[in-house]
Amino acid sequence: MKLIAPSILSANFSRIKEDINLVASAGADLLHLDVMDGHFVPNITFGPKMVADINAVTDLTLDVHLMISEPEKYINEFAKAGADWISVHQEASNHLNRLVSQIKDTGSKAGVVINPATPVDALDEILPYVDFILLMSVNPGFGGQKFIKTSLAKAKKLKEKLQAVNPNAFIEMDGGVSIDNIKQISDAGVNVFVAGNSVFGAKDPATAINEMKSIINPK
Ligand code: DX5
Ligand code: ZN
Repeated sequence: MKLIAPSILSANFSRIKEDINLVASAGADLLHLDVMDGHFVPNITFGPKMVADINAVTDLTLDVHLMISEPEKYINEFAKAGADWISVHQEASNHLNRLVSQIKDTGSKAGVVINPATPVDALDEILPYVDFILLMSVNPGFGGQKFIKTSLAKAKKLKEKLQAVNPNAFIEMDGGVSIDNIKQISDAGVNVFVAGNSVFGAKDPATAINEMKSIINPK
């Protein structure tokens, strides 16, 4: 089964509980939480307290995407806050193998993210150790940007590489995913779809989730 992960970056933070309940009852599989530090990316969002507060009001699996420098300093805190999945950027770490082990030691699933301009080949040595790879299909920092089309070829290439060394790992795509391109992205081998603007910016978020789910999991 392929999964939809609404990103709360596009939700209204002043009524976050209502927005989370809305996507949960519409069938969201995960909740994608974007942590930004104003240093690794040109925007600032929230830290571990927000994750803990969200964890207290939802049963959804929390997929925490760390867009921060020196992620090793904060992994344990995010895990303690309730992050079920934690992903870190390849570009933000000098010791990626150690970092992935650190995440796994907390009991959370460990993911590695690459930016649009980072080649899939940069992941070769880490592929056997990850639970998932997150491909950024926009430059990280903001919701509502346009999908970068070369991400499709990256997903296909990554799928082939994983098949050989870690077939159970899954591929997540983040940025510009919408009802119009989700089939193509799915056909490229992606298993988990982050959707911010295409869910929270939709007239009816529940319908948007249902439509996207029926495209990625046809009967
Ligand atoms: C961007 C974030 C994304 C963002 C995606 O830096 O990592 O998770 O919320 O938003 P959309 O789906 O609107 O492109
Ligand atoms: Zn994200």
